Amino acid sequence: MQAHTILEQPAARTGSGELDPDAYRRRSYELWQQMANRWERGREVLWETTRPVSEWLVDRLSPRPGQTFLELAAGAGETGFLAAGRLRDQGRLISSDFAPEMVEAAKRVADELGITNAEFRVIDAERIQLDDASVDGAICRFGYMLMADPARALRETRRVIRGGGRLVFSVFGEPERNPWMTVARGVMAERGHLSAPDPEEPGIFSLSDPDTIKDLVADAGFAHSELEEAEIGFRFADGDSLWAYVSELQGPIALAIARLDNQERRAVRAALEQRYAAFRESGGYRLPGLVLNEGHAQPLAGRGSRADRGCGPAQRPSRRHSRKRRRRALASRRPRSLPARRRSSGAR
Ligand SMILES: C[S@@+](CC[C@H](N)C(=O)[O-])C[C@H]1O[C@@H](n2cnc3c(N)ncnc32)[C@H](O)[C@@H]1O
Repeated sequence: MQAHTILEQPAARTGSGELDPDAYRRRSYELWQQMANRWERGREVLWETTRPVSEWLVDRLSPRPGQTFLELAAGAGETGFLAAGRLRDQGRLISSDFAPEMVEAAKRVADELGITNAEFRVIDAERIQLDDASVDGAICRFGYMLMADPARALRETRRVIRGGGRLVFSVFGEPERNPWMTVARGVMAERGHLSAPDPEEPGIFSLSDPDTIKDLVADAGFAHSELEEAEIGFRFADGDSLWAYVSELQGPIALAIARLDNQERRAVRAALEQRYAAFRESGGYRLPGLVLNEGHAQPLAGRGSRADRGCGPAQRPSRRHSRKRRRRALASRRPRSLPARRRSSGAR
């Protein structure tokens, strides 16, 4: 398959019109394999903006020397490496991703950072090849929303965490509050270089509804969910560094830009700078974003997930359901800013 075809295909559907999860998994796998080198090269830029999210997650995970933690969808691995420092030599980090190229990148980053207590594994979060109750906690930054079946991935995560352990993770909040991504995506769609996102497909905003997350977490057999919102900001000193970020690191957008001719690249860049003019700050740009952080999910003692108990389907929540929830959430929304608002729920 040509590098670009995965970006141009509309979401694959089965004969009956349902989204084809396996076709999605293949596309996602190819995309992340292709992004691995770029993310490794650009990791400092990404880390600068997103480090506070990782610090928050690792603080909530509260690693202690000698424990074993699993990082899922680790990408270049830095979030887990923050935890690895606290596990000391007696402890162990299992740094994993489903894309082997990403796992190789994480190994190189670990070498560079002098991390010696990590092992590296290719693991698909939807089918974790680890024993039941074999880790003390799990961490997943910006991963679950990209998975074909996040409910299954969460159940798998719960299965491998010991009683008393914890899952922490982050996803992105609603698109309207993430112009760092939506503006560039919009420009590419308007110019015909990317299709508009399919609302039924997994994607960066598919878990942006807090109520949907809380239901998924509870259905997977976790208690004590605590979701917090946090604002992030991508800062760029000038148009060149903004362009370098978008054209190198922004997933499908970057891969689509790579195959444009020079004239169209210049036109895309000009359109982007015009749209992002609203975000000019101190001579550069500050592009805001909203992250939802889960910091306290603990496996329910001695119980399977709700789906295991026959209380719910093991699948992505229906779009109609989550749109209804989103409308409700938006209707009741207050202005939000740091310090983050906390939403918690007890055992369900
Ligand atoms: C947005 S990146 C985030 C990477 C890293 N966690 C970070 O925050 O920088 C998403 C990562 O999820 C991985 N991924 C997507 N689907 C996955 C799955 N089913 N199982 C494991 N990893 C997956 C991709 O390969 C990619 O590295």
